[in-house]
Amino acid sequence: MHPRIRTIEEYHAAYQQSVEDPDGFWAAVAEPFTWRRKWDTVRSGEFSPAGNSKWFDGARLNITENCLDRHLAQRGNKLALIFEPNDPKVRHLRLTYRELHQQVCQFANVLRNNGVQKGDRVIIYLPMIPQLAVAVLACARVGAVHSVVFAGFSATAIADRTNDADARFVLTADGLNRGAKQIPVKSVVDEALESCPGVRRVIVVEHLGWPVTMREGRDVWYHDEVKDVALTCPAEEMAAEDPLFILYTSGSTGKPKGVVHSQAGYMVWADYTFRNVFQVEENDVYWCTADIGWVTGHSYLLYGPLLAGATSLQFEGVPTFPSPGRFWEVIDKHHVTIFYTAPTAIRSLMATPIDNVLSYSLTSLRVLGSVGEPINEEAWHWYHQHVGKGRCPIVDTWWQTETGGIMISALAGITPSVPARAGLPLPGVQPVLLNQDGTEIEGNDQEGYLAIKASWPGVIRTTWGDHERARQTYFQPYPGYYFTGDGARRDENGLYRIIGRVDDVINVSGHRFGTAEIENAINQSDYVVESAVVGYPHDVKGQGIYAYVICQNGLPTSDLEIQRAEASIIEAVVAEIGKIAKPDKIQLVSGLPKTRSGKIMRRILRKVAEGETSNLGDVTTLLDPLVVEEIVAGRK
Ligand code: WTA
Repeated sequence: MHPRIRTIEEYHAAYQQSVEDPDGFWAAVAEPFTWRRKWDTVRSGEFSPAGNSKWFDGARLNITENCLDRHLAQRGNKLALIFEPNDPKVRHLRLTYRELHQQVCQFANVLRNNGVQKGDRVIIYLPMIPQLAVAVLACARVGAVHSVVFAGFSATAIADRTNDADARFVLTADGLNRGAKQIPVKSVVDEALESCPGVRRVIVVEHLGWPVTMREGRDVWYHDEVKDVALTCPAEEMAAEDPLFILYTSGSTGKPKGVVHSQAGYMVWADYTFRNVFQVEENDVYWCTADIGWVTGHSYLLYGPLLAGATSLQFEGVPTFPSPGRFWEVIDKHHVTIFYTAPTAIRSLMATPIDNVLSYSLTSLRVLGSVGEPINEEAWHWYHQHVGKGRCPIVDTWWQTETGGIMISALAGITPSVPARAGLPLPGVQPVLLNQDGTEIEGNDQEGYLAIKASWPGVIRTTWGDHERARQTYFQPYPGYYFTGDGARRDENGLYRIIGRVDDVINVSGHRFGTAEIENAINQSDYVVESAVVGYPHDVKGQGIYAYVICQNGLPTSDLEIQRAEASIIEAVVAEIGKIAKPDKIQLVSGLPKTRSGKIMRRILRKVAEGETSNLGDVTTLLDPLVVEEIVAGRK
């Protein structure tokens, strides 16, 4: 494995070098990878005005040679992936680095045989089965740009992404398991593709053995395509700045945008952050519970662990099936040493009887991680005491789809791990707190907008097909900085505490949604004239979705009418985005608090949703102040 930081002194030295001599620092980190050609420049480009950071420009490589081929000599028989199915009665699968290499090569050959070429975009809408991991790597092997769409998104969401990425290829499966349920998948793709005329090939993996409709000339079965296909496949040589993947994520305005990461910088960042944050050793069994459909699954289930030559566990199921002890059972069964999950999962398990966790030994565990949203102190302590048995450091890792990898976090057992603090920045990361006017706030015990001062290898390169949007969203608000959209506090010891989003993004169970995106979906319902969505504190999900909705024919009066309107609103959200974005509370209203210029006063709606109705601030500038009284009275 590559060298890594082992003491607090080494952390400070690495951090200092990364700031004073970033070129020298990152050249040394990048050295041990497999390069077809080394870089001309370590860092180039700028945050402002162009927003066009480049890393290792001029280098040539293939990331899968770094994830797979280069481990074969030393680790060919080491486990690369352990796959634990949804149902504990179904046998798990294990793939060594040699076997995974073969599977990826075979899938890559199938892609090539079906016409996939370097630079083509491939939509992957697969459940958490081994073929998902294999398919992602197969795309990277042939130089295709993968765009994984989480298998809970709706047909409309798939269609939007497929068309935005101008993808001609889709990889999917017949259906998926989710706890006790089985859910169709191919039929959702079929519906999506009715509005995607550009798609010319759909490769379908058989998972449940369900009957599906196959469109002649477009759809093929993976098991047919793979017959007699070779187990080796030469890797496409890529330029450092060629795109590796697109991952769609929600922002404060408009439709989700395609965040683009490129080959070399992402690779170096995923590997460096993975090894250092989790302090990975050769014999670790590492489990990240995120779905590969989210960035956490990309960087810390797949790329980071494989780049580091680690053993990574992929779990198809859910924390509560067949019982709320399932996570802990899997940890004992596979002797998991490093466990990385989301606060929402911890909170949902905390709410079940304590025996669910106490009846497992969990002695193999060494390091615990948290990601996706702020972890509240109660959940932190429960995790520390009952899962980590008081002996495992917790790394609370702050980062974003756009940052490619972890930015602020403890390094397990090395830098301070304090409840509700992400901690210190990783080497290469220069966080600052900004005032509203963009001046830096100096000193400790301060709060402000979180921004990053200098480029790091994993920074977002562009938003697919619309560079201007990336520039405006991330690099223009505060010229010279990358703007995160989060608020943060630097405590008296210089540790960062992430407070939450300062824009119109809500974080529900660690998943990002734009309020405008949910409003657009709600407005698709025939019942709806206008809506406004805000987040509110939710015990398990972190934030819940609260929707205020004006109906077509005024306020419904009967219970039946109310039920119909609410059902139609939920149906619209499920159809446009997916079940994961269903509002938790819907309040039908006759008007929304607006300024005279017609702007919705979200501040007031947020306060009502939070239950802080006694102090709504100044409402006199509103067009119709009486609306507020009605809204407060009808609060859900
Ligand atoms: C939030 C997930 C507090 C934050 C990796 C960020 C966090 C957004 C943490 C990115 C954390 C993520 N503590 N908040 N440890 N990790 N967030 O793109 O608001 O799905 O901006 O990336 O999640 O979400 P995304």
